[in-house]
Amino acid sequence: MSVLRLRDRRAFHRSRLVRELAAAARWPKVRDSAPDLAHLAFYDDAPSGGIPRDEALLLHALLRTTRPTTVVEIGFLHGDGAFNLLCALDADARLYSFDIDPACAAIAARRFGHDARFTYRTRAQETLEPADLDGREADFVFLDAAHDLVLNQRAFERLLSMLVPNAIVAVHDTGTIPGALIPAGHPARQLTDRWLDDEFEHQPDERAFVNWLLEHHPEFSQVHVHSRRTIRHGLTVLQRTVALQRPQHEPPPPSPSSA
Ligand SMILES: C[S@@+](CC[C@H](N)C(=O)[O-])C[C@H]1O[C@@H](n2cnc3c(N)ncnc32)[C@H](O)[C@@H]1O
Repeated sequence: MSVLRLRDRRAFHRSRLVRELAAAARWPKVRDSAPDLAHLAFYDDAPSGGIPRDEALLLHALLRTTRPTTVVEIGFLHGDGAFNLLCALDADARLYSFDIDPACAAIAARRFGHDARFTYRTRAQETLEPADLDGREADFVFLDAAHDLVLNQRAFERLLSMLVPNAIVAVHDTGTIPGALIPAGHPARQLTDRWLDDEFEHQPDERAFVNWLLEHHPEFSQVHVHSRRTIRHGLTVLQRTVALQRPQHEPPPPSPSSA
Protein backbone atom coordinates (compact mmCIF):
# COMPACT_ATOMS: atom_id res chain seq x y z
CA MET A 1 0.00 0.00 0.00
CA SER A 2 1.47 3.37 -0.96
CA VAL A 3 2.03 5.96 1.75
CA LEU A 4 -0.33 8.34 -0.05
CA ARG A 5 -3.14 5.81 -0.04
CA LEU A 6 -2.45 5.06 3.60
CA ARG A 7 -2.73 8.79 4.39
CA ASP A 8 -6.25 8.77 3.08
CA ARG A 9 -7.27 5.83 5.20
CA ARG A 10 -9.11 6.22 8.46
CA ALA A 11 -6.28 4.67 10.44
CA PHE A 12 -3.96 7.54 9.49
CA HIS A 13 -6.21 10.06 11.21
CA ARG A 14 -7.02 7.84 14.17
CA SER A 15 -3.70 6.32 15.12
CA ARG A 16 -0.50 8.14 15.95
CA LEU A 17 1.40 4.87 15.51
CA VAL A 18 0.12 4.48 11.95
CA ARG A 19 1.14 8.07 11.18
CA GLU A 20 4.60 7.49 12.63
CA LEU A 21 5.09 4.33 10.59
CA ALA A 22 3.86 6.08 7.45
CA ALA A 23 6.18 9.01 8.17
CA ALA A 24 9.12 6.63 8.64
CA ALA A 25 8.41 5.14 5.21
CA ARG A 26 8.22 8.60 3.63
CA TRP A 27 11.23 9.98 5.48
CA PRO A 28 13.97 9.13 2.94
CA LYS A 29 12.18 11.36 0.40
CA VAL A 30 11.65 14.38 2.66
CA ARG A 31 14.46 14.32 5.19
CA ASP A 32 16.60 16.94 3.45
CA SER A 33 13.87 19.57 3.64
CA ALA A 34 12.03 18.44 6.78
CA PRO A 35 12.86 19.88 10.23
CA ASP A 36 15.68 18.07 12.05
CA LEU A 37 13.85 17.27 15.31
CA ALA A 38 15.09 13.81 16.27
CA HIS A 39 17.15 15.22 19.15
CA LEU A 40 13.97 16.30 20.95
CA ALA A 41 13.22 12.66 21.76
CA PHE A 42 16.10 12.99 24.23
CA TYR A 43 14.99 16.27 25.88
CA ASP A 44 12.95 16.31 29.09
CA ASP A 45 9.75 18.27 29.31
CA ALA A 46 10.71 19.72 32.70
CA PRO A 47 14.50 19.64 33.07
CA SER A 48 16.30 21.54 35.81
CA GLY A 49 18.47 24.15 34.13
CA GLY A 50 18.26 23.26 30.45
CA ILE A 51 15.61 23.95 27.85
CA PRO A 52 12.31 22.03 28.17
CA ARG A 53 11.36 20.00 25.10
CA ASP A 54 8.27 21.94 24.08
CA GLU A 55 10.04 25.27 24.44
CA ALA A 56 12.94 23.89 22.38
CA LEU A 57 10.34 22.98 19.76
CA LEU A 58 9.05 26.56 19.77
CA LEU A 59 12.53 28.05 19.36
CA HIS A 60 13.31 25.52 16.64
CA ALA A 61 10.15 26.50 14.79
CA LEU A 62 10.92 30.21 15.08
CA LEU A 63 14.35 29.65 13.53
CA ARG A 64 13.04 27.33 10.83
CA THR A 65 10.36 29.85 9.97
CA THR A 66 12.52 32.96 9.92
CA ARG A 67 15.85 31.39 8.75
CA PRO A 68 18.18 33.78 10.60
CA THR A 69 21.82 33.94 9.55
CA THR A 70 23.23 35.06 12.92
CA VAL A 71 21.88 33.61 16.16
CA VAL A 72 23.12 34.36 19.68
CA GLU A 73 22.55 32.17 22.71
CA ILE A 74 23.44 33.70 26.08
CA GLY A 75 23.73 30.88 28.62
CA PHE A 76 25.19 27.63 27.20
CA LEU A 77 25.26 25.28 30.23
CA HIS A 78 25.60 21.77 28.75
CA GLY A 79 24.80 22.81 25.21
CA ASP A 80 21.33 21.28 24.79
CA GLY A 81 19.83 24.65 23.89
CA ALA A 82 22.67 25.35 21.47
CA PHE A 83 22.24 21.95 19.84
CA ASN A 84 18.54 22.56 19.33
CA LEU A 85 19.32 25.90 17.65
CA LEU A 86 22.00 24.31 15.47
CA CYS A 87 19.55 21.62 14.35
CA ALA A 88 17.27 24.41 13.10
CA LEU A 89 19.89 26.53 11.35
CA ASP A 90 20.74 26.67 7.68
CA ALA A 91 24.17 25.55 6.52
CA ASP A 92 25.37 29.14 6.00
CA ALA A 93 24.08 30.48 9.34
CA ARG A 94 26.12 31.05 12.49
CA LEU A 95 25.40 30.43 16.16
CA TYR A 96 27.39 32.33 18.81
CA SER A 97 26.95 30.94 22.30
CA PHE A 98 28.21 32.53 25.51
CA ASP A 99 28.52 31.46 29.11
CA ILE A 100 30.38 32.73 32.15
CA ASP A 101 31.27 29.23 33.38
CA PRO A 102 34.76 28.27 32.18
CA ALA A 103 33.75 24.58 32.15
CA CYS A 104 31.46 25.23 29.18
CA ALA A 105 34.32 25.77 26.72
CA ALA A 106 35.40 22.12 26.87
CA ILE A 107 31.79 20.92 26.54
CA ALA A 108 31.29 23.18 23.53
CA ALA A 109 34.49 21.93 21.90
CA ARG A 110 33.58 18.30 22.51
CA ARG A 111 29.99 18.52 21.33
CA PHE A 112 30.18 21.06 18.52
CA GLY A 113 33.84 21.55 17.65
CA HIS A 114 33.17 19.83 14.31
CA ASP A 115 30.47 22.35 13.31
CA ALA A 116 31.87 25.39 11.46
CA ARG A 117 28.58 27.26 12.09
CA PHE A 118 29.22 27.34 15.84
CA THR A 119 31.34 29.70 17.94
CA TYR A 120 31.56 29.44 21.71
CA ARG A 121 33.09 32.17 23.89
CA THR A 122 33.44 32.38 27.67
CA ARG A 123 31.85 35.76 28.35
CA ALA A 124 29.65 37.42 30.93
CA GLN A 125 26.42 38.56 29.34
CA GLU A 126 26.91 42.10 30.65
CA THR A 127 30.25 42.46 28.82
CA LEU A 128 29.27 41.37 25.29
CA GLU A 129 30.50 43.56 22.46
CA PRO A 130 30.25 43.58 18.66
CA ALA A 131 33.63 41.85 18.27
CA ASP A 132 32.15 38.83 20.06
CA LEU A 133 29.92 38.35 17.01
CA ASP A 134 32.80 39.02 14.62
CA GLY A 135 31.02 42.25 13.74
CA ARG A 136 27.89 40.43 12.54
CA GLU A 137 24.44 41.66 13.57
CA ALA A 138 22.16 39.20 15.36
CA ASP A 139 18.83 38.21 13.80
CA PHE A 140 17.84 36.12 16.78
CA VAL A 141 18.91 36.16 20.44
CA PHE A 142 18.03 33.58 23.08
CA LEU A 143 18.66 35.08 26.52
CA ASP A 144 18.89 32.34 29.13
CA ALA A 145 21.75 33.13 31.48
CA ALA A 146 22.07 35.19 34.67
CA HIS A 147 18.40 35.43 35.71
CA ASP A 148 19.41 38.73 37.27
CA LEU A 149 17.55 41.97 36.55
CA VAL A 150 20.55 44.32 36.52
CA LEU A 151 22.72 41.97 34.45
CA ASN A 152 19.89 41.50 31.96
CA GLN A 153 19.41 45.26 31.70
CA ARG A 154 23.13 45.73 31.04
CA ALA A 155 23.21 42.93 28.51
CA PHE A 156 20.18 44.28 26.67
CA GLU A 157 21.60 47.81 26.42
CA ARG A 158 24.77 46.34 24.89
CA LEU A 159 22.85 44.03 22.56
CA LEU A 160 20.86 46.92 21.10
CA SER A 161 23.75 47.96 18.86
CA MET A 162 24.28 44.34 17.79
CA LEU A 163 20.77 43.57 16.51
CA VAL A 164 19.27 43.86 13.03
CA PRO A 165 16.23 46.18 13.14
CA ASN A 166 13.71 43.31 13.07
CA ALA A 167 15.67 40.99 15.36
CA ILE A 168 13.74 38.59 17.56
CA VAL A 169 14.85 38.29 21.18
CA ALA A 170 13.51 35.37 23.21
CA VAL A 171 13.84 35.74 26.99
CA HIS A 172 13.61 32.46 28.87
CA ASP A 173 12.07 31.83 32.31
CA THR A 174 9.46 34.58 32.32
CA GLY A 175 6.59 32.22 33.14
CA THR A 176 5.00 30.99 36.33
CA ILE A 177 4.25 27.47 37.49
CA PRO A 178 0.63 26.73 38.36
CA GLY A 179 0.33 25.95 42.07
CA ALA A 180 -1.83 22.91 41.33
CA LEU A 181 1.23 21.31 39.70
CA ILE A 182 3.54 21.94 42.68
CA PRO A 183 3.13 19.17 45.28
CA ALA A 184 2.47 19.92 48.93
CA GLY A 185 5.75 20.02 50.83
CA HIS A 186 7.76 21.15 47.79
CA PRO A 187 10.43 23.74 48.81
CA ALA A 188 8.76 26.29 46.49
CA ARG A 189 5.84 26.42 48.92
CA GLN A 190 8.13 28.00 51.55
CA LEU A 191 9.08 30.90 49.24
CA THR A 192 6.02 32.93 50.08
CA ASP A 193 7.24 36.13 48.40
CA ARG A 194 7.32 34.34 45.02
CA TRP A 195 3.65 33.41 44.91
CA LEU A 196 1.03 35.33 42.97
CA ASP A 197 -2.28 33.86 44.06
CA ASP A 198 -1.86 30.25 42.90
CA GLU A 199 1.15 30.76 40.60
CA PHE A 200 4.83 30.43 41.49
CA GLU A 201 7.43 32.78 39.99
CA HIS A 202 10.44 30.54 39.47
CA GLN A 203 12.70 33.31 38.10
CA PRO A 204 11.36 36.63 39.45
CA ASP A 205 14.11 38.76 37.87
CA GLU A 206 13.30 37.55 34.36
CA ARG A 207 9.73 38.74 34.84
CA ALA A 208 10.94 42.02 36.33
CA PHE A 209 13.24 42.37 33.32
CA VAL A 210 10.53 42.09 30.69
CA ASN A 211 8.40 44.53 32.70
CA TRP A 212 11.36 46.92 32.80
CA LEU A 213 11.61 46.59 29.00
CA LEU A 214 7.96 47.63 28.70
CA GLU A 215 8.76 50.85 30.50
CA HIS A 216 12.22 51.63 29.12
CA HIS A 217 12.04 50.04 25.66
CA PRO A 218 8.39 50.36 24.65
CA GLU A 219 9.54 50.17 21.03
CA PHE A 220 9.71 46.39 21.56
CA SER A 221 6.48 44.39 21.43
CA GLN A 222 6.19 41.44 23.78
CA VAL A 223 4.48 38.10 23.38
CA HIS A 224 4.45 35.93 26.50
CA VAL A 225 4.42 32.26 25.57
CA HIS A 226 3.17 30.99 28.93
CA SER A 227 0.73 28.33 30.08
CA ARG A 228 -1.42 27.84 33.16
CA ARG A 229 -2.12 24.23 32.22
CA THR A 230 1.34 22.66 32.38
CA ILE A 231 4.78 23.23 33.85
CA ARG A 232 6.52 25.84 31.72
CA HIS A 233 9.64 27.90 32.24
CA GLY A 234 7.97 30.40 29.93
CA LEU A 235 9.35 32.53 27.14
CA THR A 236 8.80 36.15 26.22
CA VAL A 237 9.40 36.96 22.57
CA LEU A 238 10.41 40.54 21.72
CA GLN A 239 10.58 42.39 18.44
CA ARG A 240 10.54 46.09 17.56
CA THR A 241 7.03 47.22 16.68
CA VAL A 242 6.89 48.48 13.10
CA ALA A 243 4.19 48.91 10.51
CA LEU A 244 4.67 46.44 7.70
CA GLN A 245 5.93 48.03 4.50
CA ARG A 246 3.35 48.32 1.71
CA PRO A 247 3.77 49.20 -1.97
CA GLN A 248 3.38 52.94 -2.50
CA HIS A 249 0.81 53.04 -5.32
CA GLU A 250 -0.63 56.26 -6.73
CA PRO A 251 -4.38 56.22 -6.09
CA PRO A 252 -6.21 55.40 -9.35
CA PRO A 253 -7.78 58.41 -11.12
CA PRO A 254 -11.53 58.76 -10.45
CA SER A 255 -13.62 57.00 -13.07
CA PRO A 256 -15.82 59.26 -15.29
CA SER A 257 -19.00 57.74 -13.83
CA SER A 258 -18.02 58.76 -10.29
CA ALA A 259 -17.27 62.39 -11.35
C1 LIG B 1 19.70 28.09 32.35
S1 LIG B 1 21.37 27.80 31.98
C2 LIG B 1 21.40 27.89 30.22
C3 LIG B 1 20.68 26.76 29.57
C4 LIG B 1 20.88 26.67 28.08
N1 LIG B 1 20.50 27.90 27.39
C5 LIG B 1 20.06 25.54 27.51
O1 LIG B 1 19.06 25.83 26.80
O2 LIG B 1 20.40 24.38 27.73
C6 LIG B 1 22.09 29.32 32.47
C7 LIG B 1 23.57 29.45 32.15
O3 LIG B 1 23.88 30.84 32.25
C8 LIG B 1 25.20 30.95 32.74
N2 LIG B 1 25.37 32.30 33.32
C9 LIG B 1 25.05 32.73 34.56
N3 LIG B 1 25.35 34.03 34.69
C10 LIG B 1 25.88 34.44 33.52
C11 LIG B 1 26.39 35.66 33.02
N4 LIG B 1 26.42 36.77 33.78
N5 LIG B 1 26.84 35.71 31.76
C12 LIG B 1 26.81 34.60 30.96
N6 LIG B 1 26.36 33.41 31.38
C13 LIG B 1 25.88 33.32 32.63
C14 LIG B 1 25.34 29.82 33.74
O4 LIG B 1 26.70 29.49 33.90
C15 LIG B 1 24.50 28.71 33.09
O5 LIG B 1 25.31 27.83 32.37
